[in-house]
Amino acid sequence: MIITTIKELRDYLDTHRQAGKTIGLVPTMGFLHEGHLSLIRRAKAGNDIVVVSDFVNPTQFAPNEDFESYPRNIERDERLATGAGAHAIFYPSAEEMYPHGSSTFVEVTGDITRVLCGASRPTHFKGVTTVVAMLFNIVQPQKAYFGQKDAQQAAVLMKMVTDLHMDIDLVVCPIVREKDGLAMSSRNTYLSAAERAQAPILNRALREGKAAFEKGENSVEELIQLITGKINEAPLADIDYVSIYAFPSLETIETVEEKALAAVAVRFGKTRLIDNIILEK
Ligand code: PAJ
Repeated sequence: MIITTIKELRDYLDTHRQAGKTIGLVPTMGFLHEGHLSLIRRAKAGNDIVVVSDFVNPTQFAPNEDFESYPRNIERDERLATGAGAHAIFYPSAEEMYPHGSSTFVEVTGDITRVLCGASRPTHFKGVTTVVAMLFNIVQPQKAYFGQKDAQQAAVLMKMVTDLHMDIDLVVCPIVREKDGLAMSSRNTYLSAAERAQAPILNRALREGKAAFEKGENSVEELIQLITGKINEAPLADIDYVSIYAFPSLETIETVEEKALAAVAVRFGKTRLIDNIILEK
């Protein structure tokens, strides 16, 4: 069932809440793939009612980014989300979410939003935290589901929930990959055949880094060099960053002692792909 207005969604959820049902939320920007569906299935297993939001959020795109061309297909999304266990698909317009005069933002400040993707996308996370805070207010779920694919997004949202004392459990789910290791992403559809053939290098390089770490290499500099060297073997790969930070704090480290995130962003033509792996003893 597709619901397009906040009022309708609230009325629908109030009825279920009054009947004692638990609510799980899966925020998405649509064009669903197996990565999204894994979150929906997980939400279905842990809640009575599953709401999937399907909203290409304009405030998290910079003017030079792909907001206009971002792939959209609500009929297909409804079929897939329902098949995976969603009860309601919240599909609002931009005017519904950001009515004229809307000028309030939720921003997690500090290095956590400045490093990694925050460096090349300085306004991105402010848009993400604002829209997710809105969705939390509208849906008031007990649990909300996010992918490890966007590890920095998950870390920033965990910080928002902690800092603002939001009573919501964030569940972070594993990265779903294509058979050749490429992390599933709605943006993979932008890749040319040649780019698509080289894109699995991100995962291969990260796995080599993890293997070196497991053999005893714990210098961040050495591990970054190793991963960078491997990615550069793909002629079409243009590295935005290869980084390692403590996870989920995203604090700078020189050696990997506790849980760390090795994360990469690489451009293939106009398409920017991200991937990551957790390093943990
Ligand atoms: P979107 O890119 O559509 O992703 C929605 C959710 O699916 C995110 O939590 C993301 O991490 C997860 N996801 C994407 N690809 C995945 C994969 N291969 N494996 C596992 N999970 C995956 O992330 C956003 O939308 C937006 O920023 C949003 C949170 C909806 C706010 O607008």
